[in-house]
Formats: sequence, structure tokens, C-alpha cells
Amino acid sequence: MNRSNTRRLGAITLACSALLASAAAGAGEVEVLHWWTSGGEAKAAAALKLTLQKGGHRWKDFAVAGGGGDSAMTVLKSRVVSGNAPSAAQIKGPSLQEWAREGVLANIDDVAKAEKWDELLPKIVSDGMKYKGNYIAAPVNVHRVNWLWVNPEALKKAGAKLPTTWDEFFAAGDALKKAGIIPLAHGGQNWQDFTTFESVALGIGGAEFYKKALVQLDAATITGPQMTQVLETFKKVKGYTDKNAPGRDWNLATAMVIKGEAGMQLMGDWAKGEFIAAGKTPGTDFVCTPAPGSAKAFTFNVDSFAMFKLKDAANVAAQKELAKEIMAPNFQELFNLYKGSIPVRLGMKMDKFDDCAKASAKDFVDTAKAGALVPSIAHGMAVPSAVEGAIKDVVSQFWNDDKMSVADAQSRIASAAKTK
Ligand code: GAL
Repeated sequence: MNRSNTRRLGAITLACSALLASAAAGAGEVEVLHWWTSGGEAKAAAALKLTLQKGGHRWKDFAVAGGGGDSAMTVLKSRVVSGNAPSAAQIKGPSLQEWAREGVLANIDDVAKAEKWDELLPKIVSDGMKYKGNYIAAPVNVHRVNWLWVNPEALKKAGAKLPTTWDEFFAAGDALKKAGIIPLAHGGQNWQDFTTFESVALGIGGAEFYKKALVQLDAATITGPQMTQVLETFKKVKGYTDKNAPGRDWNLATAMVIKGEAGMQLMGDWAKGEFIAAGKTPGTDFVCTPAPGSAKAFTFNVDSFAMFKLKDAANVAAQKELAKEIMAPNFQELFNLYKGSIPVRLGMKMDKFDDCAKASAKDFVDTAKAGALVPSIAHGMAVPSAVEGAIKDVVSQFWNDDKMSVADAQSRIASAAKTK
């Protein structure tokens, strides 16, 4: 290249960077705290990032690994206490109100009004996204927790049938054991123990029992005979897990089902994201079926992003853009196809979704009508976070400690339910 060409190129480059800089002046940055680090979760998070970047804003990833989000919440607390909150954080259920009471969340009513969120969300969801009547968070999805994930090939090898009750579950488990296959893939972390517990509670006790015991925290129900049966069944389930379960991450448990090392997993439908990310097809490579005994009920888990108060105007604009995009139909579709959940936005077309998602969407509506749509306690939807943590600890201790009696566990859960 001769000298004058080089100079011309230099001038063009300069002009381009000036243009870019002026465009970037209006662009802001959003730092987003989440715990979506597994295969399917990461794909879903990437979809969110791309959506935001398309609007010209910058995404600053603040991922804190750890299923269920306990570690993420600990990190969030220390960031907010030190006056350095992210723009948005994955916060759900009653915790949204707890954070709003601290006075740190932003009012995003202008976005919600302009985008008509009140009309586009089920009331049970929109109520939870508001504090004193103003939106403080944007919801992304509806996860169903009471699922059983099954490797049909493993069941076939064992000559077992797909269980629909707990008795059938144990029968299938025995057959799988005989065939040398681990019946239930489990990760022994307290939130996974708790996830298993809530599915057993729903399947054994039904939605009314679940509501009384785990939402209203009624002491008589917690110490009553149905809870005894729930805890006995829950403990029996442990006998169908392998000795390497303690500490295992949930997605590694899913991988065991994908590979056929294990026959089944009790987990919310983020597990489907793992099967899909591994290129598996629902209905043939894997099967989703409601957790035993819970076909007519639905434990819901809505992921949402709370928006924190920010000072920088460009960052506030970027934050609002994120809130707006989260509820946009294209994002709701793409994100939920990866995540395993269903769109939270009403009236979405489901034609690109698989049968598990279609069943979930139908059951969400049907169970709501029948009064059997209940909030997941293990995933922060049902009770204040302090109560949830206290009950979760007892449930997990009971799971791990073979010396703790059922009666002891019941009275300890009853005390934990009174945590202030
Ligand atoms: C849940 C969360 C899901 C999923 C799961 C495992 O609490 O709602 O989105 O990511 O944890 O990490």
C-alpha cells in the first residue's frame, strides 16, 4: 500500500471510530447476576445477552455457579451491602419483596405500562413482580418442578414400566437395581434434597396438603400423619440413589440419565435444557412425566430479574431495555426453548415447543383453575427466604442422617417454619 492510501485509510479509520464513539455515548452497560452456568442454562443466558447487545448496550456477565442460586444470593448480598449492586439480578418469589423493602430496587413501571405487562402476565405472576403496586422485576419463564426425567432405554433393559405412583416408582427402582442401573440420579446438595422432598410431598399429600404444610406452614399439618407418610416415602427414595450422590451437581445427575447410567431423575424442567443441549429428543431419547402421584398438580418456579437502583443515565436506559426485551415475544420463545421452561408471557404460540413444554403450558392453566397450582418451596416461591432456608436444612439433615427419626424431623420442621 502506498503512502497516500495508508493516510486515507487512517483518516477513514479515525472517522469510523468517532462515529462509533458517538453512537456508544447513548449505550449503557448492564451487569447481570445469574447462576445459569450448566449447558442448557448457559445457552439460555447467552440468548439474553445477545438480545441486549442487539440494542447496542453492553452486557457484563456476573455468573455465580451453583444450582438453585444459594451461592449467587450470598454474593449478591455482599455486593449490595458494599454499595455496588449489579443492574439486574436473578431474584424470585417472596425474596423480591424482601429486597424491595430494603429500598434498593428500581421502579420499572414506565416499561411495564408501555409494554402492557398487566395484560400479558398471569395475575399470580404480575403480583409477585410488584412492590407497593410498582413493578420492580421482569419475569422470564415458568419452570415446572414436579417432573420425573426418564431414560426409556434403561427402563426397557430393566423390564420396568414408567411410574405414575410412588409404589410404581419403587417397583421400577427395584427392577433397575436388578439390571445394574442406578435407579435415581441425585445430587446430594441441600436444594436438590429439598426439590425431591417437595415432589414427594405433592405426590403423596396432594395440592391441599402441600399448600397447608409448605405454603401456609400450618403446624398441625406439619406434625400430622400425612407428613409422616411423606417423610417415610422421601427417606425410602434415598435408597434408590448411588453412594456418589453427595455433593454432585444437578446437571451431572442429568448427564447420568442421558448416558443411561441412571434410569430417572426428579428435577425441574431446567433438566430438559440439559437433554436438549446434549442433542437428545424428548419422547424418544428421554421421557418427561409428572413426578409420581402429582400429575394433576403443578409446582411453579418463575425466574425473574429484579432491577436495582442505578445512577448513570445510560445504564438506566440499558436496564430498561433489558426489562423490555425480557418480555418481548421473540426472546420469550428463544430463551425458553433453551431453558426447558415455558414462556411466562400469555398468548404465546407454542408450535416450536416440544410435548413436555406443551403439557406444562396446558397443566399450568388447568391446575390454576382446579386450585392445584402451587408455588415451589425449594425454589424460593412459597415462603420467606429465612423460613425456606431453615426448613431446607432440616429436610436435608433428615435425608443425610439415618439416625434422625421421622417424628423428630416433623417437630424440627415445625420449629423451622416459625423462623422470623
Ligand atoms: C432454579 C432456577 C432455574 C434453574 C435451577 C438450577 O432455582 O429457577 O432457573 O437454573 O435453579 O440452577
